[in-house]
Amino acid sequence: MKFPVWVIVLVAVSLAVVFSAGIIAAPPLKVNTAKPLLLDEPKAAPKKQVDGPVADNSACHVCHTNYQEETLAVVHAEADVGCVKCHGASLAHRNDENNTTPPEKMYPVESIEPACIECHETHDAPARKVLTRWKERCPEKTDFAQVLCTDCHGEHRLKLRTVRWDKKTGKVLLASPAPASSGSNSGVQKP
Ligand code: HEC
Ligand code: HEC
Ligand code: HEC
Ligand code: HEC
Repeated sequence: MKFPVWVIVLVAVSLAVVFSAGIIAAPPLKVNTAKPLLLDEPKAAPKKQVDGPVADNSACHVCHTNYQEETLAVVHAEADVGCVKCHGASLAHRNDENNTTPPEKMYPVESIEPACIECHETHDAPARKVLTRWKERCPEKTDFAQVLCTDCHGEHRLKLRTVRWDKKTGKVLLASPAPASSGSNSGVQKP
């Protein structure tokens, strides 16, 4: 079917008038509430995917908050080797508000390496990397025989202590209250 030109012009003009006058409104803005709004999306990067079960160290983190991020504790927790696997369930230690009961298993210097070797028979790392780390991490040790696994792996040693036991006998050697200036005498370490 063919329209004369004047019909097309008339239709076009009247449509323009109708729209500009707002007689036909634009479709309303719809918000899809099923989809998350951008603002609701998590800010943190997704956690690293771990295959097996992760050990629950929360009972220890209550006081040892500084071990939540510590590498040695974290890589092992991700392999389901928790604090208690290496230090024992240590219920009495956990429940002692005076902090004078030691955990079940402590590691005097000479027992560290044998403990690690129980699960890690080989050390499959390039010698150059190992030497570099030795130089970075233990500049004070000149004899390689003195270097321990935990000198190079993790930050597992406490820098500050308020309680100290003999690691072999469990006898209390130091049980000083926290400095008075901190307003606390709980004896719990500061991270
Ligand atoms: C009860 C067994 C066990 C003990 C004891 C143990 N580990 Fe592990 N460790 C593991 C497992 C399982 C993994 C997970 C990765 C793997 O399979 O090597 C791991 C991972 C590691 C990693 C990371 C390896 C990587 O590829 O990133 C390091 C480093 C490590 N252990 C060092 C140590 C040191 C140092 C000690 C001694 C303080 C120790 N381990 C004691 C079982 C153990
Ligand atoms: C002088 C430093 C140094 C010492 C001491 C050391 N390591 Fe390592 N280790 C390294 C370096 C460097 C790597 C290479 C991987 C990396 O960059 O973490 C490594 C890698 C590893 C790995 C992962 C690779 C693998 O073999 O599966 C494990 C597990 C490990 N070390 C365990 C141990 C244990 C157990 C001891 C003590 C018997 C120990 N290390 C002592 C520096 C050291
Ligand atoms: C793979 C075994 C392993 C795991 C898992 C592990 N530890 Fe240890 N831990 C050790 C060893 C070995 C030492 C001795 C390290 C040293 O003296 O260099 C130690 C030492 C410590 C010390 C004393 C450090 C010092 O300065 O004397 C504390 C506190 C401690 N661990 C707490 C924890 C807590 C809390 C967890 C869990 C979040 C944990 N550990 C998980 C093996 C382990
Ligand atoms: C009520 C608080 C509390 C809880 C819970 C707790 N600890 Fe402790 N732990 C301490 C205090 C305090 C020290 C002494 C550290 C210091 O001097 O700051 C300590 C020290 C340690 C040490 C060092 C021993 C050494 O070698 O000298 C280990 C290992 C340890 N705790 C393991 C654990 C484990 C494993 C758990 C969980 C099963 C745990 N702790 C739960 C308070 C706690």
